[in-house]
Amino acid sequence: MNGLISLTPEQFTMFQKFIYEHTGIWTLDGKTALLSNRIRRRLRDRGLESFDDYYKLLTAGTVAGELEAFIDAITTNETHFFRTNDHFEWFAGPFLDDVIARAAAGRRERSLRVWSAACSSGEEPYSLAICLAENAPRLAGWTLQIVGTDICEAALQTARAATYGQKAVELVSPERLARHFIADRAGDAWRLKPTVAELCEFRRHNLLDPMPGPKFDCIFIRNVLIYFDRGSKPVALRHLVNALNSGGFLVAGSTDGAHDFLERLERRSTFAYQKP
Ligand SMILES: C[S@@+](CC[C@H](N)C(=O)[O-])C[C@H]1O[C@@H](n2cnc3c(N)ncnc32)[C@H](O)[C@@H]1O
Repeated sequence: MNGLISLTPEQFTMFQKFIYEHTGIWTLDGKTALLSNRIRRRLRDRGLESFDDYYKLLTAGTVAGELEAFIDAITTNETHFFRTNDHFEWFAGPFLDDVIARAAAGRRERSLRVWSAACSSGEEPYSLAICLAENAPRLAGWTLQIVGTDICEAALQTARAATYGQKAVELVSPERLARHFIADRAGDAWRLKPTVAELCEFRRHNLLDPMPGPKFDCIFIRNVLIYFDRGSKPVALRHLVNALNSGGFLVAGSTDGAHDFLERLERRSTFAYQKP
């Protein structure tokens, strides 16, 4: 197949709708080259010549794992440790101070559940885990759990491996690198120490679906709703707010445009919203 062939406007619309229905992501008109490149990889893997043939195979649902592989191919998984550091300083500072004080006063359990929703390859939940590890003395005896979820299985596999290249850890201070990571022999890959890695578990979850299981005290939802639209964003946010404990916080990325849809929460800062 000619590597330069692009989706026609009709094919683009077809895939745009399919992606939206399955993920909530609205691929902007004008992203034809990007989407063509991403889907072309699936054509190659399936030995197909045309986008129409691939669309038929994808929508027939007869090839096990193809929908997941397609979603892996079209998602944008960019992330790194301590992305937007203010959010982690708030988490390790005012947020933890408050939950610890309330537990000391007997007003809450000594347990903390955190959800990194759309965590990509794990850098966000592991940054949260580093914050908890650094507060270990004042969290002694607490039950701590960080759940990282994403729709992209390939990204989750990287998260579970807990080993990262130099670019992912660029914003991690040398002290933190030495304390929480083990360098490989060549010094170009960094593996998280079990003390941090063990705080996190990873599962596949679609933000368009309700989150099963116990509720959370804090949810990070950053740099994903920017790809959603006015139809899918409130659906995802409704599920996220439902998954929060009373008094729990939602932390939203500055570009995610969550504000308009969070009337059930009280705004505590430019990024932190609290459930009454
Ligand atoms: C740019 S990354 C953001 C990662 C991290 N939250 C951060 O801020 O660095 C966006 C992630 O959202 C995931 N995503 C997109 N649509 C999703 C959906 N419907 N459900 C769950 N995850 C989704 C993608 O697979 C991708 O890993």
